[in-house]
Amino acid sequence: MNEIERRIRDELQRVGSMSFARFMERALLEPELGYYVTSTRRAGRGGDFMTAPELHPILGAAIARLAAATWDRLGRPAPFRWCEYGAGEGTLLLAALERLVRDQHPLVAALQLQVDEANPYRQADLRSALSALPNGGPPLVDKGAPPTSGIIVANEFADALPFHIVVGRAAERLGFAERRVAVDAVTQALSWVEGPLDSEIAQEVTSLMAGWPPLVEGQLAEVSPATAGWARGLRGQITEGVVLVLDYGREGVALRDPTSRMAGTALSYQGHRANPELLGEPGSRDLTAHVDFTLLRAAAVAGGLRHLTSTTQAKFLATAGVDDEIARTRSGPAATLEAAVALRSALAQLMDPRRMGGFAVEIFVAGDSHAATALMDPALPLPGTAAPNRPLV
Ligand SMILES: C[S@@+](CC[C@H](N)C(=O)[O-])C[C@H]1O[C@@H](n2cnc3c(N)ncnc32)[C@H](O)[C@@H]1O
Repeated sequence: MNEIERRIRDELQRVGSMSFARFMERALLEPELGYYVTSTRRAGRGGDFMTAPELHPILGAAIARLAAATWDRLGRPAPFRWCEYGAGEGTLLLAALERLVRDQHPLVAALQLQVDEANPYRQADLRSALSALPNGGPPLVDKGAPPTSGIIVANEFADALPFHIVVGRAAERLGFAERRVAVDAVTQALSWVEGPLDSEIAQEVTSLMAGWPPLVEGQLAEVSPATAGWARGLRGQITEGVVLVLDYGREGVALRDPTSRMAGTALSYQGHRANPELLGEPGSRDLTAHVDFTLLRAAAVAGGLRHLTSTTQAKFLATAGVDDEIARTRSGPAATLEAAVALRSALAQLMDPRRMGGFAVEIFVAGDSHAATALMDPALPLPGTAAPNRPLV
């Protein structure tokens, strides 16, 4: 038994049972021990899961184009902040920066960086990568710095935020119970029990579920007040600009369709293998569920953002104007066979709708009506926001 499990069991001895959201908080973020706070690298080939920026810099290049167009349309404000949630060691941010620097884009001189990253080792990696850039790279500001114009990016962040698991139970007053974690009295293993929601969160969870059709008997579903709270707070992070949330997930209706989602979507990941078993080896496995984009959008808009578009990663890449990036990798003085093969293999994953190409990209706009007019003009869509007008691959 590892130290986190020991601590979880201590807590369970005091409280009897805990929500899965609480279990997740401890398994993922327990100081010095949690899955996302130790020195072990989690994203990438040698880790537990692959993300788009770890696969190839092209997504970073595409977001750089969106950032540059946003900055331009807002009248080139300085500073202009790249604010990233769950930035890891900065792979996406560094790819975007590299693209802007290579283009000698004037945005580089106005850029300011702000990252919200739980892992101190990855933060240190990011700082050291930035310090190796010419002039130490753009300045990095604290999490609490007053908002400026900018772009907010969150790639595969929302799916890692804690969620509750509910189970359809017709006999319960609300039509569901919470699936909670406890120690089994006979086997002494961490196991599931059903019970009411903790009183401090009950109202919020039930209000997030207010529009749901009833769950069928035994159907599991996830609900994340943490994701809703985060999305509601995004508006306050920049004065004007765009917000880009990329992740795997679906609309709420699809996530709770009992014909395809009777068991919900929660999974653990270790060594690139998904496992429906969630309670084993806390702190050694990633814990995640599909993001409910209906809920995320509603919360972001309730917080004051304007919804610009819901698209997919494949469409985003196809319309972000990265053709020159692709051409440069395939021909020209910098082209190599290895780079061309790497790009082709990455695009196959990044644009295949059954793989990362099907990931959702939600784009919002922050700011007054002047900013909205500049950024939401249907006749002049921002890079990545138009409907694709050609085959994707
Ligand atoms: C799935 S990884 C994605 C990393 C990166 N965005 C990428 O695409 O490769 C999730 C990242 O979010 C960070 N993270 C998870 N929960 C967090 C939290 N509550 N606050 C800040 N960062 C968090 C993790 O440390 C990790 O770097």
